[in-house]
Amino acid sequence: MANNILKGKKGIIFGALNSQSIAWKIAELAHAEGAEFVLTNAPIAMRMGEINDLAAKTNSQVIPADATSNEDLENLITKSQEILGGKLDFVLHSIGMSPNVRKGKHYTDLNYDWYNKTLDISATSFHKTLQICKKQDAINEWGSVVALTYIAAQRIFPDYGDMADAKSLLESIARSFGYHYGSTKKVRINTISQSPTVTTAGSGVKGFDEFINYSEQMSPLGNASAEACAEYCVAMFSDYTRYVTMQNLFHDGGFSATGVTQQVIEKFGN
Ligand SMILES: NC(=O)c1ccc[n+]([C@@H]2O[C@H](COP(=O)([O-])OP(=O)(O)OC[C@H]3O[C@@H](n4cnc5c(N)ncnc54)[C@H](O)[C@@H]3O)[C@@H](O)[C@H]2O)c1
Repeated sequence: MANNILKGKKGIIFGALNSQSIAWKIAELAHAEGAEFVLTNAPIAMRMGEINDLAAKTNSQVIPADATSNEDLENLITKSQEILGGKLDFVLHSIGMSPNVRKGKHYTDLNYDWYNKTLDISATSFHKTLQICKKQDAINEWGSVVALTYIAAQRIFPDYGDMADAKSLLESIARSFGYHYGSTKKVRINTISQSPTVTTAGSGVKGFDEFINYSEQMSPLGNASAEACAEYCVAMFSDYTRYVTMQNLFHDGGFSATGVTQQVIEKFGN
């Protein structure tokens, strides 16, 4: 179904860990749509080695970068422009990690060193990336930056823990930076709020299987898949969405606008 809508576009894709990763599907589709990009992930994630398979498949290079390190990000953004032979047209931020959630720390009993890590990895890294891109003037006019988020930024999902705070910050950064980058350089910045999806990060949330079923039944169209998320992202990177910026865009089969569904009501019958 590829239509070459990213032909000639260059970018950086953060966060492809394995073939389940949402970023992996986005990289595959962006490649099919004609884009050229650099793949990046935390140095520790490189050890799994799977990203090299994706690089081979998509004819791209990999540059390791810890998204919390300014130095790594500066190197990544400089080298990517050298490799791609010009400025960027798109950046995907698909990074999330909470040591508190991973280690089962309750939201009312947080370890604050870990809390700072959660915010740094999952949200501040987005600001750092944007700030370095802006300082280096690394993104072309009408370029598009997307970060992936979750509706726990707006509503309480108890097991999502401190990741909810990180997602609120992430969405706020998209709005604030979107203003500044848009008004000076016409770069647009949005977040896509995706349905729960079976991936390494997703499955780290307690009760994930039950939750994904609940979400499926609370969404008129059903949960959006990672492949469908890739399609939306690619549309956001294309020239067909040039005036969309500073938005949190729900890609969730209607979950965010649904109070209750008939399927769920029926579960409460006597
Ligand atoms: N899976 C879901 O249910 C779901 C739903 C909505 C939004 N999201 C968001 O989508 C994004 C991608 O997650 P995913 O579900 O594809 O899982 P994933 O585990 O495949 O991706 C998370 C990525 O973050 C990377 N990462 C962690 N620490 C890093 C660091 N210090 N520097 C650089 N990279 C680092 C990991 O290596 C990994 O590639 C995340 O922002 C996640 O919160 C996921």
